Amino acid sequence: MHIFNQGKYKSLHAQEVGELEAVAQQVAQDNDFRPRYHLAPPTGLLNDPNGLIFDGEKYHIFYQWFPYGAMHGMKHWQHFMTRDFQHFQQGDLLIPDELFESHGCYSGGAILWQDQIVAFYTGNTRRAGDNQRVPHQNIALFDKDGTLLSKRCLIDQAPEGYTEHVRDPKPFITAEGKIRFVVGAQRHDLTGTALLYEMDDLNSPPRLLGELAVEGFDNRHVFMWECPDLFQLEGEDVFVWSPQGKAREERRFQNNYHATYALGKLVGNRLEAKQIEELDYGFDFYAPQTVQHAEGILLGWVGLPDLTYPTDRYQWHSMLTLPRRLSLQEGKIYQQPIAQIGQLQAVELGEKFATIAGLDTAYLDIPVENQCLDLKFFDNAEGQHLALRYEKGVLTLDRTHTAQSEKMAEFGTVRHCEIANLTSLAIFFDRSVVEIFCNQGEKVFTSRFFIADRQNSVRSATPLTIKVGQVQGIALA
Ligand code: FRU
Repeated sequence: MHIFNQGKYKSLHAQEVGELEAVAQQVAQDNDFRPRYHLAPPTGLLNDPNGLIFDGEKYHIFYQWFPYGAMHGMKHWQHFMTRDFQHFQQGDLLIPDELFESHGCYSGGAILWQDQIVAFYTGNTRRAGDNQRVPHQNIALFDKDGTLLSKRCLIDQAPEGYTEHVRDPKPFITAEGKIRFVVGAQRHDLTGTALLYEMDDLNSPPRLLGELAVEGFDNRHVFMWECPDLFQLEGEDVFVWSPQGKAREERRFQNNYHATYALGKLVGNRLEAKQIEELDYGFDFYAPQTVQHAEGILLGWVGLPDLTYPTDRYQWHSMLTLPRRLSLQEGKIYQQPIAQIGQLQAVELGEKFATIAGLDTAYLDIPVENQCLDLKFFDNAEGQHLALRYEKGVLTLDRTHTAQSEKMAEFGTVRHCEIANLTSLAIFFDRSVVEIFCNQGEKVFTSRFFIADRQNSVRSATPLTIKVGQVQGIALA
């Protein structure tokens, strides 16, 4: 075992007495923004969901975690287990302590193999001397109780023709019983792609099958594909990934990076896509992954690389989305949140300020029926609020009048989504995050927003009757 401790590359094995408690005390100073029913890091920074798997009884949810502060430092895999997405128990973490992961345990997925959970992940390393990044693809074995059994390296360099940016293996088991994994990569000409590997069994070496081609995807300007995930949904083949570098448009690709899906038929290494679309239109959504052995449940990171948030000063950063159940309708992916909602009450809204107890942890069911919508939430004494509008076939989320870091505002303060026929909205507020599901999940907006000392208020430019219920908080043991 190695105890890494070099600047921000400091593992949990190197923590000093009281060090994490001191960070936790800073987190506890945040009275405004910590979520109640989204998984957020106890301290430090969370990013991608990892190793999502249903073991036959429980779900295992891992996530990228830097424990010591709100920055991208040494990445660990935090680990929780749950049967109901309500009660969570801690499992063993992946802590970097081998040379093949000296600079962090990066993202990956998991499969069940002979009753054990096999997590595939990228060991980030940097070569002594020139600090050159060298990606390793590794596995870690866990039993179903969440105990880490062993880990080892499968591949200790990038393959010929690709740069050092090869990462995020997501494994699955083929119909023939072989193990395959898809991994994000950058070609030597600095364009993004994904590679497919195959293993006859867990003890055989991985063979490179080649690139996964996604027909119909416009790869112009795209320099890297992160977090690939290949799976089946209702008999269709689906590829979900996070391409980096697409040119921004007014109503699509509005963030620095974004998450996309392609749906169609996989023929050999080629996905003949019938539909390619972004998975989310909000300000903060990235690196989603589906749960292995549980058809069509997806979680994403409510965040994006390079973003800072006002809560960074409390030394915590980001959270996971609610789990979402995926389904197909008319050849498109629909996403429906999994949450426990209490009794619904009807509330009348109008131009005058309505106060709704518990609004900032509530679920709202809003009938739209194609009418214009102009809503303002959470007024505070400084004149801040979050706005949501629907007009001329476009839904707009506007956080102009909320607290933002410079990085948040860099890509504009509104997000749009074209939706010609908007019949309903389901909104989930959780203190500094909102997930908005349009038309039963046809389109989704996931976003952070920061309004301190807010009132639980709503104003609507038109009279409207909505239904409101409290969302059950989650419990970590
Ligand atoms: C995506 C990502 C992955 C990488 C991980 C590191 O957010 O950059 O490609 O494995 O984060 O934390």
